[in-house]
Amino acid sequence: MKLKNKVAVVTGGARGIGSAIALHLAREGAKIVISDIASEESAQPTLSSLLNEGIEAKYFKGDASSFNDAQKTIDFAVSSFGTVDIMVNNAGITRDNLLLRMTEKDWDDVIQINLKSVFNFSKAVIKPMMGQRSGKIINIASVVGIMGNAGQANYVASKAGVIGLTKTLAKEFAGRNIQVNAIAPGFIETEMTAKLNQAQKDAIMNLVPLKKMGQPSDVAKAVAFLASSDADYITGQVICVDGGMIM
Ligand SMILES: NC(=O)c1ccc[n+]([C@@H]2O[C@H](COP(=O)([O-])OP(=O)(O)OC[C@H]3O[C@@H](n4cnc5c(N)ncnc54)[C@H](O)[C@@H]3O)[C@@H](O)[C@H]2O)c1
Repeated sequence: MKLKNKVAVVTGGARGIGSAIALHLAREGAKIVISDIASEESAQPTLSSLLNEGIEAKYFKGDASSFNDAQKTIDFAVSSFGTVDIMVNNAGITRDNLLLRMTEKDWDDVIQINLKSVFNFSKAVIKPMMGQRSGKIINIASVVGIMGNAGQANYVASKAGVIGLTKTLAKEFAGRNIQVNAIAPGFIETEMTAKLNQAQKDAIMNLVPLKKMGQPSDVAKAVAFLASSDADYITGQVICVDGGMIM
């Protein structure tokens, strides 16, 4: 139980990687607030798993791209559990298209939800973390934010932005004992990647030396490590959980 009595907020925690992160942090002892734009009913499988295991978990419906909703989520977590020790910025979407066909809305939506959300929650959570002189912020980026990917200009720009934001916040808050790191997942089996056609999946699989898709739990284990005191001397890093895509 590496996270006993810690309080974690996970955005986009209703399903997929966020749900696996919430479950994993909880099993390491953390109290959990799941925040998602989806209805509480759609988060029910995740919430029920947590509550059935006797874990203290709450749901807060909010749009991560809204500064107001981020502040309300953090206020809710602090009033429910006293503080926030671990902030996992996981909410994200794709709106893939080649630049020539990409609409302004697709660009704006992806930047708002994937990148601005990290600004929103980091700003909201930094006050309780500074007050207690400790905290871990973990941002879910992507390997494509490092390597680029045709057909994902909006998504790649957002994830490269998340990596730059991670390194900057790591420098700004190191003196306050707040570590800020990113995980860059590769090709993980969730509803997000279920949208890809077989040709796209085959092309990606050719880039994966371990020759299999990752599971949400693979990402969750890396998040739990970065959230724990085992990672107290690690900040400003990007850990790829990608079957060796980038090395
Ligand atoms: N699946 C992959 O292969 C992969 C690879 C690299 C990075 N990632 C990143 O991991 C994160 C999770 O991806 P996933 O595969 O679990 O996706 P997913 O689509 O299965 O789940 C995303 C979750 O985010 C929520 N969400 C969407 N918009 C939101 C908003 N505005 N506010 C709050 N919540 C919102 C959704 O309701 C959903 O619960 C994303 O940031 C994604 O970019 C995924």
